[in-house]
Amino acid sequence: MEELPLLRCDILTIFPEMVAHAARFGVLRRAQDSGKVSLRAINLRDFAVDRHRTTDDYPYGGGAGMVMKPEPFFRAVRAIAAQAKETPRVILLTPQGRTLRQRDCERLSLERHLVLLCGRYKGVDERVRTALVDEEISVGDYVLSGGELPALILLDAVVRLVPGVLSDAESALGDSFSEELLDAPYFTRPACYEGWEVPETLRSGNPRRIARWRRREALRRTWLRRPDLLERAALGEEDLQLLQEVREEHERALQRSLF
Ligand SMILES: C[S@@+](CC[C@H](N)C(=O)[O-])C[C@H]1O[C@@H](n2cnc3c(N)ncnc32)[C@H](O)[C@@H]1O
Repeated sequence: MEELPLLRCDILTIFPEMVAHAARFGVLRRAQDSGKVSLRAINLRDFAVDRHRTTDDYPYGGGAGMVMKPEPFFRAVRAIAAQAKETPRVILLTPQGRTLRQRDCERLSLERHLVLLCGRYKGVDERVRTALVDEEISVGDYVLSGGELPALILLDAVVRLVPGVLSDAESALGDSFSEELLDAPYFTRPACYEGWEVPETLRSGNPRRIARWRRREALRRTWLRRPDLLERAALGEEDLQLLQEVREEHERALQRSLF
């Protein structure tokens, strides 16, 4: 019997080729090839109501720029929902949404069916947001010209967390933000490059020492670069001790630099 995908995702856009092309590479590609994930880039124009397949119009009240019409979104989402076994979760990509975080990606990777709405121009008719959308997501405090790149960012971050998509070797365990910590630094061969040595511990072959080193460096990075994350991290006794060591090291380095 054919295995059903764990996650379906439909992306509504006026540039389906842009999304489909980007999804042909790397993890997104393999996730689809393995059957674990099914992605469809759907052309909003196919759901337009006129023979010119219009998807945008002038804003009421005047002003520069076009607005994406409601009908294609309503018709497309309703057609998708009518065919779906389970109610899909509809997400609007918008700079006004909540900023995407790793824990959102973890949550969304457990959904069965996502529908992503991509805006263009001045954005999407407000009635789409009020009537169709379950969640509004932003990829950061800046404005892009369309929702396709944000949709791809969300997809990439979510699909790699769908169970079985990443191999053991690629595991997302330890990636930045997975435990509200930044990841440790990585090195590969050669062991010495232009005089810069790979830390001895990483070459020691001792798994316990290596794990401890990685944890300490992850804590160090987070403390130095993103102390806000540390406030939310669930740290154990050993973490607190490693963090203390790191702080003392930096204190000593500071004292040395002063005298
Ligand atoms: C030029 S933007 C519209 C911006 C809108 N007038 C505003 O200021 O909120 C066009 C489309 O790009 C997408 N977009 C732009 N920036 C985004 C961001 N930071 N996160 C998510 N989507 C974004 C949205 O789909 C949006 O409808």
